[in-house]
This record gives sequence, structure tokens and C-alpha cells, in this order.
Amino acid sequence: MSDIVKRYDLPERHFWLHGPRSGPPVEFDARTGMWNVYGYPELHEVLGDPATYSSDTMRVVPKEMLPSEDDFSLKGFITQIDPPEHGKLRKLVSSAFTRKVVGDLEPRIAALTHELLDAARERGRFELVSDLAYPLPVIVIAELLGVSSGDRALFKQWADALFQRDAEISLNQSAEERSADIEATMKPWKEMSAYLAGHAAERRRQPRGDLLTRLVEAEVDGERLPDDQVVNFAIVLLLAGHITTTMLLGNTVLCLDAFPEQQAGVRADRSAIPAVIEESIRFLTPFALLGRATTREARLGGVTIPADQMVMLWLGAANRDPRQFPDPDVFDPDRDPNPHLGFGRGIHFCLGAPLARLEGRVALNILLDRFDTLRTDPADPVQFIPTPSLTGVRRLPLMQG
Ligand code: HEM
Repeated sequence: MSDIVKRYDLPERHFWLHGPRSGPPVEFDARTGMWNVYGYPELHEVLGDPATYSSDTMRVVPKEMLPSEDDFSLKGFITQIDPPEHGKLRKLVSSAFTRKVVGDLEPRIAALTHELLDAARERGRFELVSDLAYPLPVIVIAELLGVSSGDRALFKQWADALFQRDAEISLNQSAEERSADIEATMKPWKEMSAYLAGHAAERRRQPRGDLLTRLVEAEVDGERLPDDQVVNFAIVLLLAGHITTTMLLGNTVLCLDAFPEQQAGVRADRSAIPAVIEESIRFLTPFALLGRATTREARLGGVTIPADQMVMLWLGAANRDPRQFPDPDVFDPDRDPNPHLGFGRGIHFCLGAPLARLEGRVALNILLDRFDTLRTDPADPVQFIPTPSLTGVRRLPLMQG
């Protein structure tokens, strides 16, 4: 069991953080009606085989569990699309969201980090999440898209309503649970769609130098993205673009607090920062769970999964599989290579990974410059996000100085 678990009494539902799992790497859970995959080699196989393990998971969710199609469309929601449409969309959005676009953000990310830390110093207290780890990636993604970062209270409200939910994910919900769930999701979804549709329509009328304009203008093989797909892709960016990176920053500082010898090491040799960030993603995997649906019968980890089944991929557990990572509960940035699955793998590999890594590197460097030591405050304890599919802190007060 790692120091972090002992110290913070993490919920049992984050089972992969509580030491080695006994039991098979793939198993059916009759209670939820889903298959669970925990093992690294098995997950590696699933992510590399989109023909058998489809991202279009809505197909196997009973219709009564979904909102009506008039209310809700996942068209252009890139994480839910399979080949060949996925490749076309990925090419289109990649032509707008390039490495150069991301790389050019470095000075702005550094300036924002300093501004946010200056503001925290003036207030005389420092809570890493609300003072830096949350606002930094939200402001960056809002500025990149070209929407007002001043609206970020709205984005937070939507993201919390969509992601930070305590309910267990199950295909066997009661009718009341289902309708409560649909209602809780549809309101923020609709508000977010309307907000981004307004911006996209305006960019068509009046182009600007932002990512939304590049998305409405992007063209591959003479084809452009229809409006609803621009909106859905912008939703993915706005959601994926901030809560995950918030968790990454918080988790990395938490790891350096829990493993002081690693903090001393990276302070002395800043070239180790990228390795610290990768190990933080393995050790405390922000996006700990993905879903797939089988398109045909499949053999996996010694069992047979029938066609049309929901398969839950526990990235957090695979990243702690001792068959792949010796001493998985040790935070060791010297792992080389470190083939963690925290950004996924294969055709859906995280499109925002270069941005997340850049934000992590720049922010951590500045934190190490400005704080002689990064230390949690025993009098004001760290709080974790309770949602079982996420691993991250929602409050992390640090000692000043
Ligand atoms: C996909 C994790 C940051 C945008 C993914 C996937 C994972 C992931 C696991 C794979 C989903 C799947 O296979 O079903 C993370 C983590 C992040 C992070 C851990 C931060 C530490 C970002 C950022 C952005 C972003 C900053 C954008 C600004 C995307 C997009 C996809 C994706 C667009 C879908 C790619 C596709 O389906 O082809 N991410 N992400 N992510 N991520 Fe990230």
C-alpha cells in the first residue's frame, strides 16, 4: 500500500490504489451487467483492437437509459467514434489543433502561472487546486478556443455536473435512478451546446485567429465539419482540456510531497520533470476508467466475452499491474521506459497529451522555483475527488515558504 493511501484514507472504490489486486484480469460483474478489465496486457490488447472493442458504447446501453435523440447527439464526439469516421474526424481536428499551436502557448502558460501565484501570494494562502491547478488549464483552453475565460465558473459548473458524480456506473439502474441521471446530465449538456453553438456561428460570420475559427474552417479532402460536430468537438476540448490537467498538476505535487527524496531529486535536476509527470500519470491516473463495447465475441485474459457487451477498462489498475511495472506502488520517475496507459493507446490516444504535458512541465518548474519546498499542510488536509472513475485531488492546501 502506498504512503498516499495510508495517509489520506482513500475510498475502497479506488481499489487499485490499495495494493495488489487478487482475482482475474478480466471478469464479468453481474451487478452492473458489465465486463471489467484490470490487467495491463489485456487493456493494451483492447485499446489496440478498435474493430472488436468499439468506442460507440451508446449502442449497447438500453434505449430507456438514454435521453431522446432530439435532445442529445454524440455526432462528432470524437471519443465515441470508430473507424473509418474516426480517422477522418481526427485528421480534420488535428489540422486545427497542431503541435505548433500547442508549442506556441508556452510563454502564455508561464505568464499565467506567475499571475495566478502572485494573486495567491497577495491573498496570503495557497490552495493548489483553486489557486492554480484548476484555473490554469481552463484559462488556457478557453483562450485557445476563443471563448471568454471569464465564463469559467460556468465551465466548472458543467464539468462538475457531467463528471463528478458519485453514482455507480451500471446497466442495471432502476427507472428512477435512470431518469434522475438523464436529467442531471442533460441540463448542463444543453447549456454547454447552446453556448458553444453561439460562438461557432459567430466565427462563421466573423472569423478570428482562434481554434474555434480554425475548426469551422478546417477542411480535409474538400470536406468541412458540420456545425453540430464543431460544437461537440469543442465540448470535448473544454471538458477534457481542463479537469484532467487539473488532476495531473494536483497529483504531481501530492506525489512530490509524499516522496520527498523525489522532490529533492527533481529540484536538483529539472530535466527530470517530464519523467516525474509521466510517473505521476501512471501512479495516480487522472482518467482511471474508459468504456468500450464488443462488436463480436472475443477471447481476453482467458475468458470469452460475447458480442455487444459493455467492457470497462480500468486504466488506473492496469497502470499498477506488477506484470508490467515492478513495485507498482512505488513512485519512481526513473522507470524507463514508462509505458503507462494514462493517455490511452492506439487510435484514440489523447489528442491533448502534448498540451497537458506542456502545462505540467511549465507549472511544475515555476512552482519549484517559487517554493523552497512543496509541502502539504497537516492542519488543512488534502481532499480527493470521490468519483470512482477519476483519481485526483479537489483541495490541496500547501504550506507557504
Ligand atoms: C482522449 C486522458 C488531457 C483532449 C483521451 C484518452 C485518455 C485521455 C485516457 C483516451 C480516450 C479513449 O480511448 O476512449 C487525458 C489525461 C489528460 C488529458 C490523463 C491530462 C493529464 C487532455 C487535454 C486535451 C485532451 C489537455 C485537450 C485540450 C483529448 C481528446 C481525446 C482525448 C480530444 C480524444 C481523442 C480521440 O478520440 O481520437 N485523453 N487527457 N486531453 N483527450 Fe485527453
